[in-house]
Amino acid sequence: MSFIVTDNCILCKYTDCVEVCPVDCFHEGPNFLVIDPDECIDCTLCVPECAANAIYSEDDLPEDQQHFIKLNTDLSQQWPVITELKEPLNDAEQWDGKLNKLQYLEY
Ligand code: SF4
Ligand code: F3S
Repeated sequence: MSFIVTDNCILCKYTDCVEVCPVDCFHEGPNFLVIDPDECIDCTLCVPECAANAIYSEDDLPEDQQHFIKLNTDLSQQWPVITELKEPLNDAEQWDGKLNKLQYLEY
């Protein structure tokens, strides 16, 4: 199992999650973070840190977010590790809670 970053992280990228991860398994793209499923130890620490409620265990992943399993796997192989908190994206609060942001994902 692993934890999965889902749609609501896109265009918010608050990054509070990275500070608590004991195994540094978050990887950063231009407007989204993903978790490397091979590194995640399922500690759950990141879940309450995300103000956007974007992180789920694979077991609790909503049906409409299932495609994020593959996205986390694939993009974590391409993007660099992020371990330190940074400023959220501009307009993060405005985008928080908007649905179907995958169309805005940048690579
Ligand atoms: Fe890191 Fe734990 Fe979150 Fe996995 S569940 S991404 S190990 S903080
Ligand atoms: Fe994204 Fe939430 Fe982390 S918005 S960057 S998963 S704190």
